Amino acid sequence: MTDATPKPTTSQTGTPIASDAHSLTAGPDGVTALHDRYLVEKLAQFNRERIPERIVHAKGGGAFGEFVVTEDVSRFTTAAVFQPGARTETLHRFSSVAGEMGSPDTWRDVRGFSVKFYTTEGNYDIVGNNTPVFFIRDAIKFPDFIHSQKRLPGSGLRDADMQWDFWTLSPESAHQVTYLMGDRGLPRSWREMPGFGSHTYQWINAAGERFWVKYHFTSNQGNIEIEGSEAELIAGADADYYRRDLYEAIEAGNFPSWDVHVQVMPYEDGKTYRFNPFDVTKVWPHADYPLIKVGTHTLNRNPQNHFAEIEQAAFSPANLVPGIDASPDKMLMARIFSYPDAQRYRLGANYNQIPVNSPHAAPVNTYTQDGASRHTFNAPTTPVYAPNSLGGPEADAAAAGAGSWESDGALVRAAATLRSEDSDFGQAGTLYREVYDDAAKARFLETITGAVSGVTRDEVRERAIWYWTQVDATLGAALRLNLASGAESANEAAEYVGVAE
Ligand code: HEM
Repeated sequence: MTDATPKPTTSQTGTPIASDAHSLTAGPDGVTALHDRYLVEKLAQFNRERIPERIVHAKGGGAFGEFVVTEDVSRFTTAAVFQPGARTETLHRFSSVAGEMGSPDTWRDVRGFSVKFYTTEGNYDIVGNNTPVFFIRDAIKFPDFIHSQKRLPGSGLRDADMQWDFWTLSPESAHQVTYLMGDRGLPRSWREMPGFGSHTYQWINAAGERFWVKYHFTSNQGNIEIEGSEAELIAGADADYYRRDLYEAIEAGNFPSWDVHVQVMPYEDGKTYRFNPFDVTKVWPHADYPLIKVGTHTLNRNPQNHFAEIEQAAFSPANLVPGIDASPDKMLMARIFSYPDAQRYRLGANYNQIPVNSPHAAPVNTYTQDGASRHTFNAPTTPVYAPNSLGGPEADAAAAGAGSWESDGALVRAAATLRSEDSDFGQAGTLYREVYDDAAKARFLETITGAVSGVTRDEVRERAIWYWTQVDATLGAALRLNLASGAESANEAAEYVGVAE
């Protein structure tokens, strides 16, 4: 249904315009007038419609929802968002890591899992993945890692040699690559996969006691995966398969939900646990730290505008709230710098004033001001500096000691001190041997055979066999045999590097 009388088209400043179809010309066949301000505005705006895509996780989709606390975890944190009965509006964005904005959703990759909670104490973001671990444990490697997964500078092609060269020279990647090359590398939809905060975070309770926590989102739709051949067909037929699935499910009132759990480690355990609990390449065994339920997160509202609300969304591990803080995880500390920096570049200095990023349930009282595209401002009587004697906002000095841990030593560039069970390959081997059943192991071998068969340099192939032998000796031997007999599936190799035919 349309209105009987359409509204007049206007310029961006509200003036009715004379034509949606014809530029201003000197006679019907003559030259175009440069002072056709409506034509100029339309073309100039069009040329500026694109902003830089995210340097990683460029392709994604998302929706709004609600997080409801169903249990009582107030003994661990004072955060308002986690108090019994609290209901908080959320924004959730899912993504793939390495592909560009238009890349197919079903290419094998880790999936991003970002949740923004619009809490009464300001925005709190959990920027995680569908895997509980990561490829590296020091942020200084992150740009190199991403370069190796993206494209060759000359040909602009993705390349198995550089992917495997990086991974096998960075053996701390083995646990995450074992997830990636396993079934979890190809979820059937964003709705049917789990999410993890991955890092260790800090919770602080009312008595000032500190705890180390890890977040787990378990899908109430179940964890459902697809096989490589199916993923490849879908990639060709519908590049937006996941985005469509999420949008259509929510439009149909079929709201996906996840139960949110935490593992909680007492603060002192962090000092003596048998491996480094702040190493993002490791999981904590549930036998030591069982899942404790917090509540349920449900997505129930599609965006009205993908660009304004999803593309311009800025998720950040720096968005923390009272009762929650960082941990001595080297990756996490660097991410706290990296995301706001990327967002200032991608969205502009005032990106936190974009409606989807501004707090929806908390006031902003800041002494920051001005900058490009500033939309909000304080009353003219509000002082512009602190300290002041004019009644301006005052920081809460009592909060200064929160979110702390002991830290000591000279400045060095060194790996974290090894504990008795710190190893690059141990948990990868456990995942392969004890979590994957025989059918999953067979698919895993087929996937890595295909992927490694795309490697052209003998030295890198040999190192890949060494890498998988460290994960599991039988697996390494089977991979060697497969590669020698040429049993690899070229399609599987192509699938991972993103050049499927
Ligand atoms: C030091 C390591 C890392 C660095 C430097 C880094 C950096 C970045 C940057 C710059 C972005 C783009 C942000 C934007 O433009 O809005 C991004 C996006 C993202 N990163 Fe990381 N990242 C790191 C590790 C991780 C880890 C360990 C995880 C998961 C546990 C992760 C999950 C994500 C997700 C899900 C997004 C997309 C956020 C969204 O939906 O908008 N990253 N990362």
